[in-house]
Amino acid sequence: MKAREIAPGVRWVGALHGDRRLFDDLIPLPDGTTYNAYLIAGREKSALIDTVDPAKTDVLLAHLSEVARVDYVVIQHVEQDHSGSLPVVLDRYPEARVLATPKAKGMIVDHLGVREGRITTVEDGETLSLGGKTLEFLHAPWVHWPETMLTYLREERVLFPCDLFGSHFALAGLFATDRARMYEAAKRYYAEIMMPFRAAIRGHLERLTTYALAVIAPSHGPIHPDPSFILDAYRDWVLSPPKNEVVLAYVSMHGSTARMAEHLVAALAERGVGVEPFNLTVTDLGRLAMALVDARTLVIGAPTVLVGPHPSAVSAAYLASALRPKLRHAAFIGSYGWSSQAEARMKALLEPLKPDWLPSVLCRGLPTDESRAALDRLADAIVARHREP
Ligand code: FEO
Repeated sequence: MKAREIAPGVRWVGALHGDRRLFDDLIPLPDGTTYNAYLIAGREKSALIDTVDPAKTDVLLAHLSEVARVDYVVIQHVEQDHSGSLPVVLDRYPEARVLATPKAKGMIVDHLGVREGRITTVEDGETLSLGGKTLEFLHAPWVHWPETMLTYLREERVLFPCDLFGSHFALAGLFATDRARMYEAAKRYYAEIMMPFRAAIRGHLERLTTYALAVIAPSHGPIHPDPSFILDAYRDWVLSPPKNEVVLAYVSMHGSTARMAEHLVAALAERGVGVEPFNLTVTDLGRLAMALVDARTLVIGAPTVLVGPHPSAVSAAYLASALRPKLRHAAFIGSYGWSSQAEARMKALLEPLKPDWLPSVLCRGLPTDESRAALDRLADAIVARHREP
């Protein structure tokens, strides 16, 4: 895709990576991603906001091929998908100075091998005039690293929020237009990357209410010409209480746990509780993360393997614990062959979330009428908990 102007004096010079399917060798990217970099030209100076992933350095350099001088490279975030091309850009523009937070300075040296002498730190709220274009730097720790900052272009009211408000979605049109697809991609991205930092993001959202925003131009995915769309979505994900929804993540070896899961899904649905089951053998972990954004209760279903819970359930519980969703209640269901410590081990895994534990349902071998009755009682308990304020 060609470089193009997104606001007067502001050009997108990033790169699409439409066929990338995994981020950090962990996160599925069903729609690929983009690395958005922006060149801001003032009357006297120019500034490049972020660079691109090293895999796409050649694309960035091609977009800059007719740019004779870059005075500043603003590194909002040191993760390599945005900073990885910095050493090459600095070689191309020996006059350029790197602008970053004090916290980022050492990280740029350590992660990228850039000489400390090329880096100038900027304070929170500090401004820089490029000549008719004024940049304001907003420190924003923990979205999602400690060194991150956002940049606000005052004259055009454009916010460059780095990873915040982004999405892994390689859209050639550059601007968000299909709201349903954008919402899906942005929610997946929030769930996978931003959700653990809800408390910090809450403060940043509050601060941004004092800024007039015409465009939000994140470092991944489409640009938002209507900022209220993505801001409202974030306010819901971050601030709203969890909904009347259950995430049931389960795995089954010989069918017993699967039968329990099916029974519980039906029991919850009959009682008017939204429930999303995930068979962990085939599930997309990104979709599981998305469901956790709104869920009030997490139920893990697992058979016992070598005394403990099945490793796929262990992995899902670890992920849920790390993502720190808003959920309040949890339960464990599953079958075992002759004895089990699965329940205690699962509770230990989810301990960081400090959930309110509902009664577990365990059965030896096939589920019986008593197992099904216990699952019905669990569904009743979930309904009662979900009615609480
Ligand atoms: Fe898109 Fe945290 O890097």
